[in-house]
Amino acid sequence: MFASDKKTASLHNKNILVTGGAGFIGSHTSRQLVEAGCNVVVVDNFYSGHKWAVPSQAILLEGDAGDLAFMSRTLATHNIDAVIHFSGHIVVPESVANPLKYHQNNTCCSRNLIEACTKNEVRNFIFSSSAAVYGIPSHIPVDETAPTAPINPYGRSKLMTEWMLEDTANSFLTAESSDKQQNPFRYAALRYFNVAGASLDGKLGQATPDATHLIKVACEAACGKRDYIKIFGTDYPTPDGTCIRDYIHVEDLAHAHLLALSHLFKGGKSEILNCGYGTGFSVKEIISAVKQASGKNFKVIEAERRLGDPPSLIADAQRIRALLGWQPRLQDINVICETAFKWEQKQPAPSAII
Ligand code: UFG
Repeated sequence: MFASDKKTASLHNKNILVTGGAGFIGSHTSRQLVEAGCNVVVVDNFYSGHKWAVPSQAILLEGDAGDLAFMSRTLATHNIDAVIHFSGHIVVPESVANPLKYHQNNTCCSRNLIEACTKNEVRNFIFSSSAAVYGIPSHIPVDETAPTAPINPYGRSKLMTEWMLEDTANSFLTAESSDKQQNPFRYAALRYFNVAGASLDGKLGQATPDATHLIKVACEAACGKRDYIKIFGTDYPTPDGTCIRDYIHVEDLAHAHLLALSHLFKGGKSEILNCGYGTGFSVKEIISAVKQASGKNFKVIEAERRLGDPPSLIADAQRIRALLGWQPRLQDINVICETAFKWEQKQPAPSAII
């Protein structure tokens, strides 16, 4: 449904390297890139990704996106035009408990990957950033000009990578070499809000082991893979006391990457862009939506707050619409929950989740 978009015609025959292309968002994006006529090289270490999720047309290399020598070789061998960097750890509470794991795998790996790009004349870079860089915004919805003040190591690791990209891009603009000035390193940092759902054809979805994300967990409960779901905190300053998030369908998000890439290939400047719909749902509302989509009633337990959770995060996403012409097609929360539930039904049940 996204492949025929004229806005991505400039991607045809481009060589795109996707780190984390076997993961949830990376696999949906890799498939859309293939459909848009790109030659896709996926690098994944299978920490949470799966071989079956990588499109058969893509070249799949097992390796670490932070391995400078390996990435340099790969970028040169495949004559890569652009990198989309998905790989990274994504669980907020885990980052609070184990910050150095996040700084190693998110911050340090990104640093090496950026160096590999600059040394191999790869000058277009798309980065999976996060709404977590905002921390607890003073205004909702939050736009890209809002101050960044992450409240957990995950958000800080993402913000540090944004800064490295900004510094690198600036170094090209101020460089004395004319090559660097004429062909500057440019990037798009896409600040994802809460990504969920699964492909409409049921072939791709979130298959991360030990997932902690709300819609995935609720779908597992609806499928009977969990005995219950916990609501982490009912005393937040929100209308029903539970946290509010802006949930975005993974296919709409994947398409935003193609548009951002196209923007860079057309010579557009570096950008930071929110990826969300501008609509918030509370934890309780999401649980109701999953119950409705699945037709299953499951047990819900009200529990203590979880570390590192901001009360409310909703995107002001006008910029990505205006700049890239991004037009989301799957923003109905029921579609997000239905596709996630259908996907979950097809996943084998782990031996014991709870
Ligand atoms: N929640 C529950 N019970 C659960 C799981 C989650 O109540 O079993 C709550 C959380 O406490 C939070 C909300 O549901 O209030 C959403 O939590 P998620 O774990 O689904 O997602 P996060 O908001 O923590 O983080 C996600 C991504 C980040 C991204 C962020 C941006 O993991 O990468 O959204 O909003 F930065």
